[in-house]
Amino acid sequence: MLDRLKALEASALSQIKDATDLQSIESLRVQYLGRKGKLTAILRDMGSLSAEERPKIGKHANELKNRLEKAFDDYLAGLSNRASGQKPNPIDYTLPGRRGYAGKVHPVTRIYRQIVDIFLGMGFDLAEGPEVELDYYNFEALNMPRHHPARDMQDTFYIDDEMLLRTHTSPVQVRTMESRRPPIKVIAPGKAYRPDYDVTHSPMFHQVEGLMVGTDISMADLKGVLSVFVHAMFGSEIGLRFRPSFFPFTEPSAEVDIMCVICKGTGCRVCSHTGWLEILGSGMVDPAVFSMVGYDPEEYTGFAFGMGIERIAMLKYGIDDIRLFFENDLRFLNQF
Ligand code: DAH
Repeated sequence: MLDRLKALEASALSQIKDATDLQSIESLRVQYLGRKGKLTAILRDMGSLSAEERPKIGKHANELKNRLEKAFDDYLAGLSNRASGQKPNPIDYTLPGRRGYAGKVHPVTRIYRQIVDIFLGMGFDLAEGPEVELDYYNFEALNMPRHHPARDMQDTFYIDDEMLLRTHTSPVQVRTMESRRPPIKVIAPGKAYRPDYDVTHSPMFHQVEGLMVGTDISMADLKGVLSVFVHAMFGSEIGLRFRPSFFPFTEPSAEVDIMCVICKGTGCRVCSHTGWLEILGSGMVDPAVFSMVGYDPEEYTGFAFGMGIERIAMLKYGIDDIRLFFENDLRFLNQF
């Protein structure tokens, strides 16, 4: 009887091993372990055994039954791969995918585009000029003759006596007025250069110049245009004020402050507890500049303004070091 049990186990195990699908394994289970199965058939003959042999064989038979049951279960556990008779698939489709790395628009570019969009929305055209500029357009035609102390306001990268890297976008005003007749309503965004390097200065930075010239343009127009801009950029609750100032190419000149975007005017570290932040320079185009481009100062009036794009971006995003924009550190850039 022990031999019959051993033979049964051997044939069951080999058939389980060769089984290819769920159906065949279920029918093997019935064949061997079912109520009318082979094991039951052998056990039915136990009656013929002696009283000593019976518990011994009974124990064997029980252990055999457990082993076969485990073999069936193990088979079923691995069945997800084998049920269809296919090889196990090495790709687990249920795992989350790996994201591809997508580039983002640089924060300065974003603000640059926002500023441009706001002015295009008010009917301004775009104007352009070279970054390697003539001394004439950068200084001379803007009412800053050679050796004039006003040039000290802007440290300059000179290339030679006549050429330099433009220190601001204002020369585009002159180039635009030379090539067109009023009415003029342009903005000129672009790069400017100065030998400065600290938390608020970078040797290369961006500015947007604005210029509007006609027969009846007043400071009220300047104030209206800049109010629309400030409210669109920073929100309608942000007020602005004009503070008398000096620029050689405007008369009168004013710097424009906005209510501190951090503390909303109550005073904090960012606004040095004044409640105000300076964002741009502006004024009415100086008659001397009109004369340089051949416009009659008696006939035409106009306003101009210039602002730093990084400065606007720093205020908008709460960034306290301009150099972060140009270090290309992904930990910084990924936040936008
Ligand atoms: N160009 C000046 C600067 O870079 C800014 C500026 C001030 C531009 C007054 C203007 C203006 O057009 O009217 O500091």
